[in-house]
Amino acid sequence: MKIRIMMIKDFDEIYTLWKEVGLKIADHKTEEEEVKKMITLNPMTNFVVCDGMKIIGTVFGIFNGRRAWIHHLAVHPAFQNMGIGSLLLKKVEQALKIVGAERVCLWVDKINLKVLFFYKKYGYREMKNAICLRKNL
Ligand SMILES: CC(C)(COP(=O)(O)OP(=O)(O)OC[C@H]1O[C@@H](n2cnc3c(N)ncnc32)[C@H](O)[C@@H]1OP(=O)(O)O)[C@@H](O)C(=O)NCCC(=O)NCCS
Repeated sequence: MKIRIMMIKDFDEIYTLWKEVGLKIADHKTEEEEVKKMITLNPMTNFVVCDGMKIIGTVFGIFNGRRAWIHHLAVHPAFQNMGIGSLLLKKVEQALKIVGAERVCLWVDKINLKVLFFYKKYGYREMKNAICLRKNL
């Protein structure tokens, strides 16, 4: 098992992984364009875990200069509950700190509240005084 920096050429494999994991994702083209931009803007803070040649886990760490965000933390179902998600979380936090982030946020979908236990175990807390808003541009 090895953690390494994510590369744009990993995209097809990680898209398949996200479908197997059941992540709520956009279509192939949209995700591919976003992944290219995320890797280009944050080349040192996105990781994959490999079992041999096969990618079995992903995480993005995106720092915008003020806040950092974690996206698409995912571990292949056959490899869950073996500590890999915890390892990826630690790795991305360390990498974000190195590029200057002091605080990290993440988004948990309301249909995926079961992962709150996982994040809370590692010190993440719900924001009581903020509501997330969005708009399509
Ligand atoms: C969340 C996820 C990345 C965790 O990865 P993992 O490799 O299974 O995590 P770990 O093995 O490091 O587990 C760490 C702890 O969290 C717990 N845990 C992991 N997934 C959990 C879940 N879905 N619900 C409750 N607890 C969970 C484990 O039991 C373990 O606790 P323990 O050490 O006290 O037994 C993985 O479950 C996953 O890919 N889920 C689907 C994608 C997803 O929802 N991602 C989060 C998007 S916000």
